[in-house]
Amino acid sequence: MINVGILGATGMVGQRFIQLLENHPDFEITALAASFKSAGKRYEDATNWYLDNEMPESVKDIKLVETNPSAMNNDVDIVFSSIPTELAFKIEKEFAKDYVVASNASAHRMKKNIPLVIPEVNPEYLDMIENQQKENNWDGFIVTNPNCSTIALTLSLKPIVDNFNVNSIRVSTMQAVSGAGYNGVPSMAIVDNLVPYIGNEEEKMETETLHLLGNYDGKNVHPADFKLSASCHRVPVIDGHTEAVFVELDDDLNIEDIEDKMANFKGLPQKLNLFSAPKNPIIIKKEEDRPQPRMDRNAENGMSISVGRLRKDQAIDNSFKYVLVGHNTIRGAAGASVLNAELINDKIL
Ligand SMILES: NC(=O)c1ccc[n+]([C@@H]2O[C@H](COP(=O)([O-])OP(=O)(O)OC[C@H]3O[C@@H](n4cnc5c(N)ncnc54)[C@H](OP(=O)(O)O)[C@@H]3O)[C@@H](O)[C@H]2O)c1
Repeated sequence: MINVGILGATGMVGQRFIQLLENHPDFEITALAASFKSAGKRYEDATNWYLDNEMPESVKDIKLVETNPSAMNNDVDIVFSSIPTELAFKIEKEFAKDYVVASNASAHRMKKNIPLVIPEVNPEYLDMIENQQKENNWDGFIVTNPNCSTIALTLSLKPIVDNFNVNSIRVSTMQAVSGAGYNGVPSMAIVDNLVPYIGNEEEKMETETLHLLGNYDGKNVHPADFKLSASCHRVPVIDGHTEAVFVELDDDLNIEDIEDKMANFKGLPQKLNLFSAPKNPIIIKKEEDRPQPRMDRNAENGMSISVGRLRKDQAIDNSFKYVLVGHNTIRGAAGASVLNAELINDKIL
């Protein structure tokens, strides 16, 4: 068994980590950390548990520690991080001196030699780890997963960019409130309403997606060279981001072929049969009114994205559009980190 710790264990993503790691065949939770106001308390006493399933018995009595490496048990091997970005900038590097850090925070996503990875999309970026360790003289390292809306979009685009010549992409998101964290969006701002702005979200989607779909030459990442424009919106849904995607190709359009490539898409986690890997990363919905967040966010334990309404776009030649739903705190956050850690465990540890 590999012992793991969770930073930000009491938050939206931290709770998902706890749910996903319960009964994991390779990882066992031995340390939980949060802010100084929670440190010293039993996990059950410090946490506003928001998930449908009960809090696992195994974590209720764990005493939370402060978020620094000296407070962590020495027996921890992997640290899952779901802390605010400002804190992650400094503290994740401190942890990386000794631990493998699998992070959800955006602090280090676009840094040289720090892999930003979706295992089905760009597992080869893990090759950066050797350079990262040499450059910093660390025994551990940092690996990151993308922003929640980026993960779902990029998974859906991978079979498209691998098989067709993409000219441009536009995406309009309808994002769940859990994406902003437990205290993120006040109920008075979102009930009976929609907020057409999420700070830095459009920039993250535009840069991270091109980075993930680019290529790594052993030293640098060369981002994909098509144009991408995102418009991001918060909607009164608890979990599950919905995205309307518009793709312009340089090739002649064949909708059946596109659907076939998406439906049959598989990546390295499926080949390696990793524990958290969905059988089908992309599920095609045929009903005219799907996907919907309430009905489709939990597809394959929340690790698959659902794509529907795949159709020709009449406005621009050789263009098509579709709608996707992905679970933002599972595939878009904790599940993404756990899958990264499973790949690292298989390939590196
Ligand atoms: N929610 C999503 O869908 C999502 C998706 C992708 C990435 N992310 C990223 O994941 C991270 C966590 O997001 P979240 O939604 O889980 O946020 P959250 O619900 O607000 O939880 C934040 C966690 O960080 C801890 N924390 C806050 N201030 C701290 C400090 N000064 N020192 C140590 N710990 C501190 C909190 O502990 P206390 O309870 O003690 O305050 C809590 O455990 C963020 O970087 C976010 O951008 C979130």
